[in-house]
Amino acid sequence: MKKILIAGNWKLYVTEVEDAKNLASQLKRKISKITNIDTVLMPTAPLISTVSAAVKKSSIAVGAQTVSPFLDGAHTGYESAAALKSAGVKWALVGHSERRAQESEDVIQAQVQAAVKAGLSVMLCVGEAERDPQGAHFSLIERQLSSALAHFPAKGTKLVIAYEPVWAIGKSAAEACKPADLEEMSIFIRRALTELFDRTAATKIPILYGGSVDGSNVHELLTQGGVSGFLVGRASANAKSLFEIIDACKA
Ligand code: PGA
Repeated sequence: MKKILIAGNWKLYVTEVEDAKNLASQLKRKISKITNIDTVLMPTAPLISTVSAAVKKSSIAVGAQTVSPFLDGAHTGYESAAALKSAGVKWALVGHSERRAQESEDVIQAQVQAAVKAGLSVMLCVGEAERDPQGAHFSLIERQLSSALAHFPAKGTKLVIAYEPVWAIGKSAAEACKPADLEEMSIFIRRALTELFDRTAATKIPILYGGSVDGSNVHELLTQGGVSGFLVGRASANAKSLFEIIDACKA
């Protein structure tokens, strides 16, 4: 059975230890009976240990919302991929549009490298700020992929691509990417990955969608969008809306 991946990017929606603990524990109970969905929770860094403790002995993995391009050394205020790994984090989210504003393509490439070196799995976000009738957004996505993955190892590190068009993030479900447009982009991303890796490796890389996903649009995006899961922001930050998504995806 092909697994669906649902990652919850909590951003700064969840900021209290108790809320993080409750939400993670509720998800642990919910997911224990579901076999076709893998889940990742990405809390803000100060809540990583709380969430890690709450999801112990479950299939839920913990991710970090960003990583430093430096593994160690004199870099005050950064989150080292090595430290995250040692604290039980499995996934590094890299290239989210809310970070790209302050992180260049070179920095994103270095963050991917740092995550790989530390042994973290990489969830790389790509997405255009706007669509253009001439299709310039396709070349932008191709550039974001080839730059971030320039030195990505062919083997040994798990990679997931999250297509998140910036114009669809944080809006209403009706403003999310349309399934047909998503399917076209998934095919394009898959083809671009085939150029970067060999065909067999490229076929195995899951492509997720993110941008105003909730219980009302997730089923059609999953069945018609050519993706194998979702990176969910706002709707992942409370049990009711997160469970609506899970219920719509479960086998
Ligand atoms: P959203 O965010 O689900 O709130 O639109 C998605 C994301 O930014 O990862």
